[in-house]
Amino acid sequence: MANTAPDSPTTPAPSQFIFVICQNGAESATKLEVTNNHPNLNLAFSRPGFITFKVSADNPLPQRFTLKSALARTYGWSLGKCTSQDASSMVAEISTNSHFSSSNHVHVWQRDPFTPGKNGFEPGISALANEVGNLFKAAAEKTGSKIAVNKESKPDDQVFDVVMVEPNEWWYGYHFASTVAGRWPGGTPAIDTSVETYSRAYFKLSEALLWSGITIQPGDICAEIGSAPGGACQLLLEKGASVIGIDPAEMETGILEHENFVHIRKRGTDVRRKEFRNTKWLLSDLNADPNFSIETVAEIVNHPLVDVKGIILTLKFSEWKNTTSIPDLMKAVKALGFQVVKARQLAFNRREICLVAVKDKFVLRLGKKNVKTKKPATIEKPSP
Ligand SMILES: C[S@@+](CC[C@H](N)C(=O)[O-])C[C@H]1O[C@@H](n2cnc3c(N)ncnc32)[C@H](O)[C@@H]1O
Repeated sequence: MANTAPDSPTTPAPSQFIFVICQNGAESATKLEVTNNHPNLNLAFSRPGFITFKVSADNPLPQRFTLKSALARTYGWSLGKCTSQDASSMVAEISTNSHFSSSNHVHVWQRDPFTPGKNGFEPGISALANEVGNLFKAAAEKTGSKIAVNKESKPDDQVFDVVMVEPNEWWYGYHFASTVAGRWPGGTPAIDTSVETYSRAYFKLSEALLWSGITIQPGDICAEIGSAPGGACQLLLEKGASVIGIDPAEMETGILEHENFVHIRKRGTDVRRKEFRNTKWLLSDLNADPNFSIETVAEIVNHPLVDVKGIILTLKFSEWKNTTSIPDLMKAVKALGFQVVKARQLAFNRREICLVAVKDKFVLRLGKKNVKTKKPATIEKPSP
């Protein structure tokens, strides 16, 4: 009997096409990265933030495929598109697809209209997308089945995807939630963007922690190079960490006045290494070349007095084409002695990526179980 298990190479692919979601503006870089890593994929269709690829018949992908891409926000099998002026008729048509009835989640979202942070736009699920999601829920209920709408799925759940590429043009498909971001609707975690923050770095770091599995525990000592004005420090302080902010620029007063914060008003390379001796998590968010950021971090991490558990870097690219250096940047970080190195363009990133590395993989996800309500560690405040 033929083996028809979902991951069997003999299982026929559900479609000839896959869809990939990326940041609005990152299409060329994403196409290049995806086709370099997967020579069996060819560009089929592209809109800002939305791309489809045709899979080579000679070299198909397994049903539960993993895309090797730092720039892809999420991805799945593309089952086609539906165009109409009438939302109800589109829902009625799409919900007859057999993959809809075999999914226990439906994720519905609009493609990004702008770069995150531009014109007040922040990634997330719009009210309109949720409304459409509820129409899908009602369609499932009519047939006696239940489907969750725009909820984070469990690992490996089958998720039906509806991408509102235009208000009257929806593309649909499905995926198995095999990655952390694959469990989030549209690959974007539900982060409350109505919170008042000192900078967008607050959202970026919130997403970085959710994606990477790093848990900041009360009492952890964190150092951030490139800390002004202070959005990331704000989040770290909220989590009960003791924070050293390193930046020649001014920090927000609300951060400066926090009892668990110390500002070292210098460039990263000018700070004495012993200042980092108790640092558990080292962060860097420099508006500088990614190689410079990694060199700055390397000098600290390599010092015999320093023993960080992990690093969280925001690496900025002056041009999209420079994102081809991501594999080399990851190699450079791995060479510093980190066991796990991951890179991703977060939904809240702009022309930048988040690179996370930890010395020991067990530190990831352990945090929650091990949270102890420790008093924040004392870091020496410089005299005024
Ligand atoms: C994108 S901002 C950082 C935002 C910050 N992480 C936040 O949470 O608000 C980049 C910062 O890097 C700082 N910077 C640039 N080069 C630096 C260096 N060599 N050492 C320390 N800070 C540097 C700049 O002064 C600037 O404040």
